[in-house]
Amino acid sequence: MMKKPEQFALGRFPVYLQSGDGAEVTDVDGNRYIDYICGLGANALGHNHPAVIKAITDNLASGIIHSLPTPVEITAARALTEIIPGAEQVRFFKTGADANSAAVRLARFITGKEKIVTVGYNGWHDHYMFDTPGVPEIIQRYTSRMPLFTPQDEQPLLDLIADENEQLAAVLLSVPYNRPLQTNFVHKLRNLCKDKGVLFIFDEVVTGFRLALGGAQEFFDVQADMVTLSKGLAAGMPLSAVVGRRELMEQMEKLQVSTTFGGEMLSLEVCRAAINEYRNSNYIEHIAKLGRQLKDGVNAIAAELGTPLTVVGYDAIPMFLFSRNPQEHVKFAEPFVAEMAARGVLLRRDVNFISSAHTITHIEHTIAAVKGALVAMQRAGLFATEKHEVASGAEA
Ligand SMILES: Cc1ncc(COP(=O)(O)O)c(C=O)c1O
Repeated sequence: MMKKPEQFALGRFPVYLQSGDGAEVTDVDGNRYIDYICGLGANALGHNHPAVIKAITDNLASGIIHSLPTPVEITAARALTEIIPGAEQVRFFKTGADANSAAVRLARFITGKEKIVTVGYNGWHDHYMFDTPGVPEIIQRYTSRMPLFTPQDEQPLLDLIADENEQLAAVLLSVPYNRPLQTNFVHKLRNLCKDKGVLFIFDEVVTGFRLALGGAQEFFDVQADMVTLSKGLAAGMPLSAVVGRRELMEQMEKLQVSTTFGGEMLSLEVCRAAINEYRNSNYIEHIAKLGRQLKDGVNAIAAELGTPLTVVGYDAIPMFLFSRNPQEHVKFAEPFVAEMAARGVLLRRDVNFISSAHTITHIEHTIAAVKGALVAMQRAGLFATEKHEVASGAEA
């Protein structure tokens, strides 16, 4: 769904990619692009990172999946318990939705309550994504989906938790990307959950290994009951995890929570190697710094040209926003990503990702391409107002 052509600019955006190298990718027609989609955030180290290649090639001959547990389940779990705040035990899965479903099942079992509150996208499974054909109507009774896009959304979420706490097993929070949450609010939410006996599950599928080495928990200095991780967890290999306090996590033994490929070894080897790389390089500072430079550069140009584009959100996961109204946003974002692709840059219409492989040269090229794209959109009459006359030769 997230990669289908309609998500970008139909007919004006590459459809199939052939290969990747660092922060750049090549499509099947041989065109090369700077890639900010990064495998929907999985490619935290870009393509072909030596640590990832080594972890796979060194271990491939030992097998991919075995019939009993293998030591890398321990070493990969230990790598997580060393850097994720409050992670005393780990359970591995394959997808972000898997991990969230396991955490929700565990929360229901531990609290003896059935309802959940979700914030943001948590995966395609029934109890988060029920407004699609194919999901029994009754499922909706168990989930309240709450937005957090504006500060005005905060109190209703707190009120709901306070009002429904006797039925609520957990709050499953993935942060909005259009504005950084205030630390105060995250603490308030966390403390309310604690007071009301509602488990606080931090969905860090995106924020993990991005906002800080220890993820959003470290960024906000907050301790969740459980955290779910994926995407950057194994730098492009399919892996997810639930981590949390031992007293909670060990209860998972009492449930049916299991998946055949959870112990697949190459992903676990890459998880261990990627975490080693995150810890022993300037990865976290690098992605934040480049993200900030991208944000500042694009915002300056967009303002100079008098266009409504702003880059918002967390530095390492910049969101390109034309309007807070979704329909209005898409009206601009679609031609914008098309114009950017024509200038050798692949962007999503909203959240994008910086990897360790991006360089300042990529950022500078991207800022110049934004200028060219916005100028082209102005010339096409896409913006209602043009505050500044466009200088000729501004095309990137
Ligand atoms: C915050 C968040 N949680 C969960 C998921 C679901 O992960 P997956 O697609 O691996 O099931 C996603 C996917 O993009 C996500 O962004």
